[in-house]
Amino acid sequence: MEKREELYRGKAKSVYKTDDADRLILLFRNDTSAFDGKRIEQLDRKGMVNNKFNAFIMQKLEAAGIPTQFDKLLADNEVLVKKLDMIPVECVVRNYAAGSLVKRLGVEEGMKLNPYTFELFLKDDAKGDPFINESHVVAFGWGTAEQLVRMKELSLKVNDVLTKLFDDAGLLLVDFKLEFGVFSDGSIVLGDEFSPDGCRLWDKDTKKKMDKDRFRQGLGDVIEAYEEVAKRLGVPL
Ligand code: TMP
Ligand code: ASP
Repeated sequence: MEKREELYRGKAKSVYKTDDADRLILLFRNDTSAFDGKRIEQLDRKGMVNNKFNAFIMQKLEAAGIPTQFDKLLADNEVLVKKLDMIPVECVVRNYAAGSLVKRLGVEEGMKLNPYTFELFLKDDAKGDPFINESHVVAFGWGTAEQLVRMKELSLKVNDVLTKLFDDAGLLLVDFKLEFGVFSDGSIVLGDEFSPDGCRLWDKDTKKKMDKDRFRQGLGDVIEAYEEVAKRLGVPL
């Protein structure tokens, strides 16, 4: 597999073309961003940890029947993935109240949500990733009604699989964000990444935050917490 020119540079990952029109290479950098890119810092080992963490999770999801972009790990910071036409919508599933839900509705952090909630945000940093609904997605042409049905179905399946996986590792999956894309055959496939950058994970007993909220809230030991989560799951680092 030959790495070609950079196609896109995101806040934490860079995307490269390859000599295969259906494959891309994702490079996980150490850049750590919060508040829609207003704060960016370099954290040692983060690219490597998130790349390996993501590979582990994506393979678990594939094994559970969820189509993902993952193809194979190439290096500590690089992964080969299917080329997707990304849908600019973030799907957020919440099992406990935290983050923007607490701010928006004034509910108590940690409140169990029964059933879980499913929310959509537009992926647009300049607009602050605004909260949107399904009719906006269809009216503005970001995705079709059929694609939305599949994105929601897959998001809830991811929630089932990962809630159990993290629970077995002594962790609560509080919430998470997924991004989907369309593969060359027209199917909806899970893209982007799943790592402690895009979800909330709390220790089941102590409720200690083990995710990017450590960075957002200046709690320290960010990568140490990611590594602890990886260790509990059995992710080889
Ligand atoms: P929120 O509470 O800020 O809406 O975030 C909900 C979850 O989704 C949380 O685990 C963080 C993740 N998330 C991202 O990773 N990137 C984003 O742009 C958004 C809106 C959420
Ligand atoms: N919106 C995400 C966060 O608050 C990612 C980012 O802004 O870079 O962490």
